[in-house]
Amino acid sequence: MFDLKPESTDVEAEVLRGLTAEPKWLPPKYFYDERGSRLFEAITALPEYYLTRTELAIFDAHMPDIARSIGPGSCLVEYGSGSSLKIRKVLEEVAPAAYVPVDISGDHLVDMAERLRSDFPALAIYPVCADFTSAFELPAVVRRMPKVGFFPGSSIGNFDPVEAQAFLGRIRNTVGEGGRLIIGVDLKKDVHVLEAAYDDAAGVTADFNLNLLRHLADVLGVELDPGRFAHRAAYNADVGAVQMFLDVAETHEVQIGDTRIRFEAGESVHTENSFKYDPDDFLALAARAGFSRVGAFTDAQGWFGVFLLEATAEA
Ligand code: AVI
Repeated sequence: MFDLKPESTDVEAEVLRGLTAEPKWLPPKYFYDERGSRLFEAITALPEYYLTRTELAIFDAHMPDIARSIGPGSCLVEYGSGSSLKIRKVLEEVAPAAYVPVDISGDHLVDMAERLRSDFPALAIYPVCADFTSAFELPAVVRRMPKVGFFPGSSIGNFDPVEAQAFLGRIRNTVGEGGRLIIGVDLKKDVHVLEAAYDDAAGVTADFNLNLLRHLADVLGVELDPGRFAHRAAYNADVGAVQMFLDVAETHEVQIGDTRIRFEAGESVHTENSFKYDPDDFLALAARAGFSRVGAFTDAQGWFGVFLLEATAEA
């Protein structure tokens, strides 16, 4: 594994920045402790959460077309390596010469690479432990290979459009001129469908959202009590995102470091944005980051988009 030693963050400072802001917010990256990652896996199988199965169906239908336009001999760079089912579909069809999964969790990378090595013995796998939201270097061995970025799952939707453009610009620099990107993007649709996907009947998403408090309480050793909050998800048409909140059910105070945080009954802590795009708006954003459209694939209802993009000469 290539360990680029991603900087560890000061969790307390980050949490206090959010909880002393008006309105309050918490960073969504703290959803993903072990329990949170398991809950997210469960979300992807929920009847209301159409994103994962719709994207997989698009891959099943169109990966041969995508693969034909990429060709063998390339190096596939996956941003975040959580989606082993999806990467398998790509590896089977595209048959790249090398695969570089990039993830902030070294343990996760090692496990995943081991499993893939036994199923794809001819594939050179070079895991890179890095924070892919910042600039990072690819291993020297793959530098001359044509690059294809892979960023499925509509994770791009968890960045706001300004951050999304900056992030795509960094991918563009990594894959270089003529390099490609396969990216999955959730599309705008009926608000009821959108909101149900983030507020399922079984309450798994509620548990996922509340788990953020449990995780931070553990890490910081503070008394953030999920029982005093309630999950809420709403589509905000002005910004084009489903937004998740933890609504304060009863007024209480929590000591975090030297700071006492007061939570008023009825106030909300914003925990996540999940931006949704019209295909043309997403392609315009990608163009501003230096990518042009090679292919765009969707399902029969037009709920989810998979875009094949090419890095242009100039961003
Ligand atoms: C990881 N990400 C694309 C998910 C989403 O749909 O925004 C995270 C999620 N949050 C609630 N449900 C799923």
